[in-house]
Amino acid sequence: MQAALPNLIPSRGSSDSNSPAGEFPKAGEFPKAGEFLKNDARGKLIVALDVSTAEAARKIVAAVGDSALTYKVGMQLYTAEGPQVVRDLVASGRRVFLDLKYHDIPNTVAAAVTEAAKLGVSMLTVHAAGGGKMLRAASDAARAVNPALLVLAVTVLTSLDQRDIEQVGIQNTVRDEVLLLTRLALANGCQGIVTSAREARAVRTELGDDFAIVTPGVRPAGAAHGDQARVVTPAEAIAAGASYIVVGRPITEAEDPAAAARAILEQMG
Ligand code: C5P
Repeated sequence: MQAALPNLIPSRGSSDSNSPAGEFPKAGEFPKAGEFLKNDARGKLIVALDVSTAEAARKIVAAVGDSALTYKVGMQLYTAEGPQVVRDLVASGRRVFLDLKYHDIPNTVAAAVTEAAKLGVSMLTVHAAGGGKMLRAASDAARAVNPALLVLAVTVLTSLDQRDIEQVGIQNTVRDEVLLLTRLALANGCQGIVTSAREARAVRTELGDDFAIVTPGVRPAGAAHGDQARVVTPAEAIAAGASYIVVGRPITEAEDPAAAARAILEQMG
């Protein structure tokens, strides 16, 4: 169905017909990381590659073109294709957010983080609920390979509500649990958290601006959706304090992914 998507990135040997197998089309010229993140909304947009093959991922990346720089590789694509898809994305000039949500004993997580850092990812996730020792082991391991690698702690999954967290023995409200886990993550060397935009404002108010907040569950203003109450627009997410927003299907399933990404960038202001 997606076979007809155009490759919007210019030549440099990047078309499907003359690229070596596995290669992503090369990214265009992006400003250097520091400036880029400050001055260009593209630095705040992460496109989720929630697909099962590298080929599907390549089609999305080609179709998005230079409208986004950072791609999230999560457990679906990673489980299907392994680390090569990450290496190929990095080699193409993209930033990779490796969202595997590590949660294990400190030694095991540190070893996995070391391997992820060696792949060249820019951001990765661990579960804050893994505890302070695990978070410290993860952030130390990342720093040893690449001091610029952002280790992000997942706080409360956006799929969980108050009843769900009570079922696993948490007595806090979702908000207080997010704050508790954020404090723990920051105290143990993590440079940011993943949380819903609904909690982002409280996190900024209580804990300041000196760390990254990544928010998923974002839908463009005016987009069709089944559940009004759960929708956060790009502008609302940024206003709530998000440093980065993760957007998947509104871009990857759009007829014109580049136009969809550009519309979101405009809404981010
Ligand atoms: O829904 P969408 O396709 O934009 O999801 C992109 C990513 O955001 C998913 O990979 C998922 O990890 C995350 N997500 C989330 N909570 C939601 C919706 C999506 O964490 N409510």
